[in-house]
Amino acid sequence: MMNIALDKSIKTAPNDVSGAQHAGRNIDMQQQAGEELAFSQKYDEKHARHYFEKHQDGLWRRLSDWRDHQIARKALRIAGNPHEVLDVPCGTGRFWDVLAEDPDRVIHASDYNQSMIDTGMANRPKEITGRIRSFQGSAFNLPVPDNFVDSIFSIRFVHHLGESEDRLKLLREFHRVSRDTVILSMWVDGNVKAMARRSLEKKRPGRAYQNRFVIPVATIEEEFARSGFSIEARLDFLKYYHMWRTYVLRKTQGQA
Ligand SMILES: C[S@@+](CC[C@H](N)C(=O)[O-])C[C@H]1O[C@@H](n2cnc3c(N)ncnc32)[C@H](O)[C@@H]1O
Repeated sequence: MMNIALDKSIKTAPNDVSGAQHAGRNIDMQQQAGEELAFSQKYDEKHARHYFEKHQDGLWRRLSDWRDHQIARKALRIAGNPHEVLDVPCGTGRFWDVLAEDPDRVIHASDYNQSMIDTGMANRPKEITGRIRSFQGSAFNLPVPDNFVDSIFSIRFVHHLGESEDRLKLLREFHRVSRDTVILSMWVDGNVKAMARRSLEKKRPGRAYQNRFVIPVATIEEEFARSGFSIEARLDFLKYYHMWRTYVLRKTQGQA
């Protein structure tokens, strides 16, 4: 269940150009309502540093990161190599290198936690961070105008949304902000890992706090259609075995 909290402190990073401001639109970020999930607050400075290092740590993590990058590259190709992209939530900029492979691409990046953005900006190569236009905000209520970018790129966020209501809210916002496509990854069922997780969850019923969820394929694909998207591609991390799936969605006429 999403906790809705008014966040009056939404602001742009000191040396960054907010996407909204960059586009010359006069949006008062102080007026934006921030929305957070139970897990949203855990990404403080220490956690941001840990998150940055985690994905470069050990053989399995590096292999997994490499595969994530390969899928991201393919998804961008299928989306038609979008010119202007919003990476949200960007975390510490794990995919900025892939996004920057197109030398002409305009890259916006946003996260609820400024410490995540700052860690990415401080530690990624300068030739990449120099191209990133970052701003802090909630993915559910982005401080940018309609059709702001050609594509939204949202990796490893939807698996934190256990409620259909929250996913639909996010999809509606992405439909508003993207002109054409949305790329997003999540955990889905129909594979060995999801079955193993389900039996594990049965053994530990009634856990008070859960922040990651396997979403049934039938459910999420129905939510995409309801939100005004058609499916261009389904890209699995390791088909029939792993839970991670990346979808490439294209906007259809409107929302049902
Ligand atoms: C698992 S990380 C994924 C980051 C990045 N996409 C990646 O794959 O490395 C989840 C991110 O969601 C951000 N987050 C949490 N709640 C948010 C919200 N309501 N709006 C935007 N970002 C949020 C966190 O700060 C964190 O950076």
